[in-house]
Amino acid sequence: MAHIHTKTLTVDPFHPDPAAINQASEVIQVGGLVAFPTETVYGLGANALDSHAVARIFEAKGRPSYNPLIVHIPDKDAARDLVQEWTETAERLADRFWAGALTLVLKKSNRVPDMVTGGGDTVALRVPAHPVAQALLKRAGVPIAAPSANRSNQLSPTLAAHVAQGLTGRIEMILDGGATTGGVESTVLSLVENPPRLLRPGLITPSEIAEVIGAVQVGAEAPVQSKTTPLLSPGMLARHYAPQTPLIIAQGDGAEEVSAFLRQGLRVGWLTFHPQPPQPNLYPTLMPSTAEGYASRLFAELHLLDGIGVDRIVVAETPRGGKWLAIEDRLRRASLPTE
Ligand code: TXA
Ligand code: MG
Repeated sequence: MAHIHTKTLTVDPFHPDPAAINQASEVIQVGGLVAFPTETVYGLGANALDSHAVARIFEAKGRPSYNPLIVHIPDKDAARDLVQEWTETAERLADRFWAGALTLVLKKSNRVPDMVTGGGDTVALRVPAHPVAQALLKRAGVPIAAPSANRSNQLSPTLAAHVAQGLTGRIEMILDGGATTGGVESTVLSLVENPPRLLRPGLITPSEIAEVIGAVQVGAEAPVQSKTTPLLSPGMLARHYAPQTPLIIAQGDGAEEVSAFLRQGLRVGWLTFHPQPPQPNLYPTLMPSTAEGYASRLFAELHLLDGIGVDRIVVAETPRGGKWLAIEDRLRRASLPTE
Protein backbone atom coordinates (compact mmCIF):
# COMPACT_ATOMS: atom_id res chain seq x y z
CA MET A 1 0.00 0.00 0.00
CA ALA A 2 1.32 3.45 -0.92
CA HIS A 3 2.40 5.55 2.03
CA ILE A 4 0.02 8.43 2.64
CA HIS A 5 0.82 11.52 4.65
CA THR A 6 -1.47 11.47 7.69
CA LYS A 7 -2.37 14.93 8.94
CA THR A 8 -3.60 15.30 12.53
CA LEU A 9 -5.78 18.25 13.47
CA THR A 10 -6.57 18.89 17.12
CA VAL A 11 -10.15 19.98 17.68
CA ASP A 12 -12.11 21.05 20.71
CA PRO A 13 -14.48 18.11 21.34
CA PHE A 14 -17.37 20.38 22.28
CA HIS A 15 -16.82 23.28 19.88
CA PRO A 16 -14.78 22.00 16.95
CA ASP A 17 -13.10 24.70 14.89
CA PRO A 18 -15.06 25.11 11.62
CA ALA A 19 -11.79 25.47 9.67
CA ALA A 20 -10.67 22.01 10.81
CA ILE A 21 -14.09 20.54 10.04
CA ASN A 22 -13.90 22.12 6.56
CA GLN A 23 -10.56 20.50 5.87
CA ALA A 24 -11.81 17.12 7.04
CA SER A 25 -14.97 17.46 5.02
CA GLU A 26 -12.96 18.25 1.88
CA VAL A 27 -10.95 15.07 2.39
CA ILE A 28 -14.22 13.08 2.64
CA GLN A 29 -15.61 14.77 -0.48
CA VAL A 30 -12.63 13.83 -2.64
CA GLY A 31 -12.78 10.20 -1.56
CA GLY A 32 -10.22 10.32 1.26
CA LEU A 33 -10.22 8.81 4.75
CA VAL A 34 -10.71 10.76 7.99
CA ALA A 35 -10.61 9.29 11.49
CA PHE A 36 -12.89 11.17 13.88
CA PRO A 37 -14.17 10.82 17.44
CA THR A 38 -17.66 9.57 18.19
CA GLU A 39 -19.17 9.20 21.65
CA THR A 40 -18.23 5.48 21.61
CA VAL A 41 -14.86 5.01 19.87
CA TYR A 42 -13.00 6.68 17.00
CA GLY A 43 -14.38 5.89 13.54
CA LEU A 44 -12.55 5.69 10.22
CA GLY A 45 -14.76 7.59 7.80
CA ALA A 46 -15.27 7.78 4.05
CA ASN A 47 -18.09 8.95 1.80
CA ALA A 48 -20.54 6.04 2.05
CA LEU A 49 -21.91 6.73 -1.45
CA ASP A 50 -18.47 6.44 -3.08
CA SER A 51 -17.49 2.77 -3.54
CA HIS A 52 -13.85 3.61 -4.23
CA ALA A 53 -13.57 5.63 -1.02
CA VAL A 54 -15.26 2.83 0.93
CA ALA A 55 -12.91 0.26 -0.61
CA ARG A 56 -10.02 2.27 0.81
CA ILE A 57 -11.40 1.79 4.35
CA PHE A 58 -11.13 -1.98 3.92
CA GLU A 59 -7.62 -1.63 2.55
CA ALA A 60 -6.43 0.69 5.34
CA LYS A 61 -7.83 -1.54 8.07
CA GLY A 62 -6.92 -4.84 6.45
CA ARG A 63 -10.59 -5.69 6.90
CA PRO A 64 -12.16 -8.53 4.91
CA SER A 65 -14.60 -7.12 2.36
CA TYR A 66 -17.53 -9.28 3.54
CA ASN A 67 -17.54 -7.44 6.86
CA PRO A 68 -20.09 -4.58 6.50
CA LEU A 69 -19.66 -1.02 7.75
CA ILE A 70 -21.88 1.24 9.83
CA VAL A 71 -23.18 4.26 7.92
CA HIS A 72 -23.22 7.44 10.01
CA ILE A 73 -25.82 10.12 9.31
CA PRO A 74 -26.48 13.52 10.92
CA ASP A 75 -30.13 12.88 11.85
CA LYS A 76 -32.98 10.43 11.36
CA ASP A 77 -34.29 12.25 8.27
CA ALA A 78 -31.13 11.23 6.46
CA ALA A 79 -32.03 7.56 7.06
CA ARG A 80 -35.02 7.45 4.71
CA ASP A 81 -32.98 7.61 1.49
CA LEU A 82 -30.76 4.76 2.59
CA VAL A 83 -33.42 2.19 3.51
CA GLN A 84 -36.23 0.43 1.68
CA GLU A 85 -38.64 1.18 4.46
CA TRP A 86 -38.25 3.41 7.50
CA THR A 87 -40.42 1.44 9.89
CA GLU A 88 -42.52 2.53 12.85
CA THR A 89 -40.13 0.59 15.11
CA ALA A 90 -37.15 2.42 13.63
CA GLU A 91 -38.90 5.75 14.15
CA ARG A 92 -39.61 5.02 17.81
CA LEU A 93 -36.06 3.86 18.50
CA ALA A 94 -34.56 6.83 16.69
CA ASP A 95 -36.74 9.23 18.66
CA ARG A 96 -35.62 7.67 21.92
CA PHE A 97 -31.94 6.88 21.32
CA TRP A 98 -30.62 9.10 18.47
CA ALA A 99 -28.31 10.90 18.50
CA GLY A 100 -26.53 8.16 20.42
CA ALA A 101 -24.86 4.80 20.63
CA LEU A 102 -27.50 2.67 18.93
CA THR A 103 -26.99 1.23 15.44
CA LEU A 104 -30.06 0.04 13.55
CA VAL A 105 -29.90 -2.58 10.80
CA LEU A 106 -32.58 -2.23 8.10
CA LYS A 107 -33.14 -3.32 4.49
CA LYS A 108 -30.94 -1.11 2.34
CA SER A 109 -32.03 1.02 -0.59
CA ASN A 110 -30.25 1.08 -3.96
CA ARG A 111 -28.38 4.22 -2.94
CA VAL A 112 -26.16 2.23 -0.58
CA PRO A 113 -23.25 0.64 -2.47
CA ASP A 114 -22.73 -3.10 -2.01
CA MET A 115 -19.19 -2.31 -0.91
CA VAL A 116 -20.60 -0.79 2.31
CA THR A 117 -22.78 -3.75 3.21
CA GLY A 118 -20.43 -6.56 2.31
CA GLY A 119 -22.76 -7.48 -0.55
CA GLY A 120 -25.68 -7.95 1.85
CA ASP A 121 -29.15 -6.44 1.49
CA THR A 122 -29.16 -4.66 4.85
CA VAL A 123 -27.48 -1.49 6.05
CA ALA A 124 -26.44 -0.49 9.58
CA LEU A 125 -27.25 3.15 10.43
CA ARG A 126 -26.27 5.34 13.33
CA VAL A 127 -26.56 9.02 14.26
CA PRO A 128 -23.55 9.80 16.46
CA ALA A 129 -23.98 12.36 19.23
CA HIS A 130 -20.37 13.57 19.38
CA PRO A 131 -20.15 17.24 18.34
CA VAL A 132 -17.13 16.57 16.09
CA ALA A 133 -18.90 13.70 14.30
CA GLN A 134 -22.04 15.80 14.01
CA ALA A 135 -20.17 18.79 12.59
CA LEU A 136 -18.32 16.63 10.08
CA LEU A 137 -21.52 14.89 8.90
CA LYS A 138 -23.37 18.17 8.48
CA ARG A 139 -20.50 19.85 6.65
CA ALA A 140 -19.67 16.90 4.39
CA GLY A 141 -23.31 16.56 3.35
CA VAL A 142 -22.94 12.85 2.63
CA PRO A 143 -23.46 9.77 4.79
CA ILE A 144 -20.13 8.60 6.23
CA ALA A 145 -19.30 4.89 6.38
CA ALA A 146 -17.10 4.35 9.43
CA PRO A 147 -15.91 1.25 11.20
CA SER A 148 -13.82 1.65 14.34
CA ALA A 149 -10.51 3.28 13.39
CA ASN A 150 -8.24 0.34 14.20
CA ARG A 151 -6.52 -2.32 12.13
CA SER A 152 -8.79 -5.33 11.66
CA ASN A 153 -9.10 -7.54 14.76
CA GLN A 154 -7.31 -5.10 17.03
CA LEU A 155 -8.62 -3.04 19.90
CA SER A 156 -10.95 -0.17 19.09
CA PRO A 157 -9.38 3.28 19.60
CA THR A 158 -10.57 5.62 22.31
CA LEU A 159 -7.75 8.13 21.77
CA ALA A 160 -6.33 9.71 18.60
CA ALA A 161 -2.97 8.21 19.61
CA HIS A 162 -4.49 4.73 19.30
CA VAL A 163 -5.68 5.60 15.79
CA ALA A 164 -2.27 6.97 14.83
CA GLN A 165 -0.55 3.84 16.09
CA GLY A 166 -2.54 1.61 13.74
CA LEU A 167 -3.28 3.81 10.76
CA THR A 168 -0.53 6.42 10.27
CA GLY A 169 0.59 6.32 6.65
CA ARG A 170 -2.68 4.70 5.56
CA ILE A 171 -5.23 7.51 5.94
CA GLU A 172 -5.30 11.22 5.09
CA MET A 173 -6.48 12.75 8.36
CA ILE A 174 -7.10 12.27 12.06
CA LEU A 175 -9.35 14.68 13.93
CA ASP A 176 -8.03 14.54 17.49
CA GLY A 177 -10.90 15.39 19.82
CA GLY A 178 -9.39 13.78 22.91
CA ALA A 179 -10.63 10.67 24.69
CA THR A 180 -14.02 9.28 23.69
CA THR A 181 -16.36 8.96 26.64
CA GLY A 182 -18.40 5.82 25.88
CA GLY A 183 -15.43 3.56 25.38
CA VAL A 184 -17.18 0.53 23.89
CA GLU A 185 -18.78 0.34 20.45
CA SER A 186 -22.46 1.04 19.86
CA THR A 187 -25.27 -1.42 20.47
CA VAL A 188 -26.20 -3.04 17.13
CA LEU A 189 -29.85 -4.03 16.71
CA SER A 190 -31.32 -5.80 13.68
CA LEU A 191 -34.78 -4.57 12.74
CA VAL A 192 -34.91 -7.06 9.89
CA GLU A 193 -35.95 -9.75 12.35
CA ASN A 194 -39.14 -9.82 14.35
CA PRO A 195 -38.82 -9.20 17.22
CA PRO A 196 -35.65 -7.19 16.63
CA ARG A 197 -32.42 -8.99 17.51
CA LEU A 198 -29.43 -7.72 19.45
CA LEU A 199 -26.36 -8.29 17.25
CA ARG A 200 -23.80 -6.55 19.47
CA PRO A 201 -24.33 -5.46 23.08
CA GLY A 202 -23.40 -1.88 23.97
CA LEU A 203 -24.18 0.65 26.66
CA ILE A 204 -27.77 0.95 25.42
CA THR A 205 -29.20 -2.24 26.88
CA PRO A 206 -31.78 -4.75 25.60
CA SER A 207 -34.13 -3.83 28.44
CA GLU A 208 -33.90 -0.11 27.61
CA ILE A 209 -34.72 -1.01 24.00
CA ALA A 210 -37.52 -3.36 25.04
CA GLU A 211 -39.10 -0.52 27.03
CA VAL A 212 -39.60 1.29 23.73
CA ILE A 213 -40.53 -1.52 21.36
CA GLY A 214 -41.74 -4.40 23.54
CA ALA A 215 -39.41 -7.28 22.83
CA VAL A 216 -35.82 -7.90 21.78
CA GLN A 217 -34.19 -11.21 20.93
CA VAL A 218 -30.96 -11.64 22.81
CA GLY A 219 -28.84 -14.74 22.32
CA ALA A 220 -27.65 -16.17 25.63
CA GLU A 221 -24.31 -15.87 23.94
CA ALA A 222 -23.69 -14.38 20.51
CA PRO A 223 -23.09 -17.34 18.23
CA VAL A 224 -19.57 -17.56 17.02
CA GLN A 225 -19.70 -17.93 13.26
CA SER A 226 -17.14 -19.44 10.97
CA LYS A 227 -15.47 -17.28 8.36
CA THR A 228 -16.85 -19.39 5.53
CA THR A 229 -20.55 -18.88 6.24
CA PRO A 230 -22.13 -15.50 5.45
CA LEU A 231 -21.85 -13.32 8.51
CA LEU A 232 -24.97 -12.41 10.42
CA SER A 233 -22.83 -9.82 12.10
CA PRO A 234 -19.07 -9.59 11.90
CA GLY A 235 -18.99 -8.51 15.52
CA MET A 236 -19.73 -12.16 16.13
CA LEU A 237 -16.40 -13.29 14.77
CA ALA A 238 -14.85 -15.01 17.72
CA ARG A 239 -11.78 -12.98 18.47
CA HIS A 240 -12.37 -9.32 18.00
CA TYR A 241 -11.55 -6.27 20.06
CA ALA A 242 -8.40 -8.06 21.11
CA PRO A 243 -5.22 -6.87 22.80
CA GLN A 244 -1.91 -8.44 21.70
CA THR A 245 -1.31 -9.79 25.19
CA PRO A 246 -3.04 -13.01 26.33
CA LEU A 247 -5.97 -11.99 28.53
CA ILE A 248 -7.47 -14.15 31.26
CA ILE A 249 -10.85 -13.48 32.84
CA ALA A 250 -10.58 -14.51 36.49
CA GLN A 251 -13.21 -16.10 38.66
CA GLY A 252 -13.40 -13.66 41.51
CA ASP A 253 -10.83 -10.90 41.83
CA GLY A 254 -7.97 -12.72 40.09
CA ALA A 255 -5.49 -12.68 42.99
CA GLU A 256 -4.71 -16.39 42.56
CA GLU A 257 -4.17 -16.15 38.82
CA VAL A 258 -1.96 -13.12 39.31
CA SER A 259 0.17 -14.83 41.98
CA ALA A 260 0.59 -17.93 39.84
CA PHE A 261 1.83 -15.88 36.86
CA LEU A 262 4.16 -13.82 39.05
CA ARG A 263 5.63 -17.04 40.48
CA GLN A 264 6.38 -18.11 36.90
CA GLY A 265 8.40 -14.92 36.54
CA LEU A 266 5.87 -13.27 34.20
CA ARG A 267 4.97 -9.57 34.08
CA VAL A 268 1.28 -9.20 34.78
CA GLY A 269 -1.30 -6.51 34.11
CA TRP A 270 -4.33 -6.69 36.38
CA LEU A 271 -7.67 -4.94 35.96
CA THR A 272 -8.99 -5.04 39.50
CA PHE A 273 -11.69 -3.43 41.64
CA HIS A 274 -9.45 -3.24 44.73
CA PRO A 275 -6.34 -1.13 45.37
CA GLN A 276 -3.21 -3.30 45.28
CA PRO A 277 0.08 -2.81 47.13
CA PRO A 278 3.10 -2.43 44.82
CA GLN A 279 4.79 -5.68 43.78
CA PRO A 280 7.58 -6.30 41.31
CA ASN A 281 6.35 -7.25 37.82
CA LEU A 282 2.75 -6.36 38.67
CA TYR A 283 0.88 -3.59 36.83
CA PRO A 284 -2.47 -3.21 38.59
CA THR A 285 -5.18 -0.83 37.39
CA LEU A 286 -7.98 0.12 39.71
CA MET A 287 -11.10 -0.04 37.53
CA PRO A 288 -14.30 1.95 38.14
CA SER A 289 -17.17 0.06 39.74
CA THR A 290 -19.85 1.45 37.41
CA ALA A 291 -20.34 -0.06 33.96
CA GLU A 292 -20.12 3.38 32.30
CA GLY A 293 -16.88 4.18 34.09
CA TYR A 294 -15.42 0.76 33.36
CA ALA A 295 -16.37 0.90 29.68
CA SER A 296 -14.82 4.33 29.21
CA ARG A 297 -11.48 3.05 30.54
CA LEU A 298 -11.35 -0.54 29.30
CA PHE A 299 -9.77 -0.21 25.84
CA ALA A 300 -7.36 2.54 26.92
CA GLU A 301 -6.09 0.36 29.78
CA LEU A 302 -5.68 -2.64 27.48
CA HIS A 303 -3.81 -0.44 24.98
CA LEU A 304 -1.52 0.71 27.80
CA LEU A 305 -0.79 -2.80 29.04
CA ASP A 306 -0.07 -3.90 25.46
CA GLY A 307 2.30 -0.94 25.20
CA ILE A 308 4.11 -1.85 28.43
CA GLY A 309 4.51 -5.33 26.98
CA VAL A 310 3.27 -7.35 29.95
CA ASP A 311 3.10 -11.13 29.44
CA ARG A 312 -0.44 -11.64 30.73
CA ILE A 313 -3.49 -9.51 31.51
CA VAL A 314 -5.70 -10.77 34.33
CA VAL A 315 -9.17 -9.23 34.56
CA ALA A 316 -11.19 -9.47 37.77
CA GLU A 317 -14.66 -10.89 37.23
CA THR A 318 -17.11 -8.11 36.39
CA PRO A 319 -20.72 -7.73 37.55
CA ARG A 320 -23.38 -9.17 35.22
CA GLY A 321 -26.35 -7.89 33.29
CA GLY A 322 -27.46 -4.47 32.05
CA LYS A 323 -24.66 -2.34 30.70
CA TRP A 324 -22.10 -4.88 31.95
CA LEU A 325 -23.26 -7.18 29.14
CA ALA A 326 -21.26 -5.07 26.65
CA ILE A 327 -18.13 -5.24 28.81
CA GLU A 328 -18.50 -8.97 29.38
CA ASP A 329 -18.85 -9.45 25.62
CA ARG A 330 -15.69 -7.46 24.77
CA LEU A 331 -13.68 -9.18 27.52
CA ARG A 332 -14.83 -12.64 26.47
CA ARG A 333 -13.79 -11.97 22.86
CA ALA A 334 -10.47 -10.49 23.96
CA SER A 335 -9.78 -13.61 26.04
CA LEU A 336 -10.18 -16.06 23.14
CA PRO A 337 -6.95 -17.49 21.75
CA THR A 338 -5.65 -16.01 18.48
CA GLU A 339 -6.82 -17.98 15.46
O1 TXA B 1 -19.67 2.62 18.06
C1 TXA B 1 -19.57 2.16 16.92
O2 TXA B 1 -20.45 1.45 16.42
C2 TXA B 1 -18.31 2.50 16.14
C3 TXA B 1 -18.33 3.99 15.83
C4 TXA B 1 -17.19 4.42 14.96
O3 TXA B 1 -19.55 4.33 15.24
N1 TXA B 1 -18.23 1.74 14.93
C5 TXA B 1 -17.95 0.41 14.92
O4 TXA B 1 -17.85 -0.12 13.64
O5 TXA B 1 -17.79 -0.24 15.91
P1 TXA B 1 -17.23 -1.57 13.35
O6 TXA B 1 -17.15 -1.69 11.86
O7 TXA B 1 -16.00 -1.75 14.10
O8 TXA B 1 -18.34 -2.55 13.80
C6 TXA B 1 -19.48 -2.63 12.96
C7 TXA B 1 -20.41 -3.66 13.48
C8 TXA B 1 -20.07 -5.03 12.99
O9 TXA B 1 -19.40 -5.77 13.95
C9 TXA B 1 -21.45 -5.61 12.75
O10 TXA B 1 -21.85 -6.26 13.94
C10 TXA B 1 -22.35 -4.48 12.53
O11 TXA B 1 -21.67 -3.33 12.92
N2 TXA B 1 -22.86 -4.34 11.15
C11 TXA B 1 -22.55 -3.43 10.21
N3 TXA B 1 -23.32 -3.57 9.13
C12 TXA B 1 -24.17 -4.58 9.40
C13 TXA B 1 -25.24 -5.19 8.69
N4 TXA B 1 -25.61 -4.77 7.48
N5 TXA B 1 -25.86 -6.23 9.27
C14 TXA B 1 -25.51 -6.65 10.50
N6 TXA B 1 -24.53 -6.10 11.23
C15 TXA B 1 -23.86 -5.08 10.69
MG1 MG C 1 -14.43 -2.59 15.02
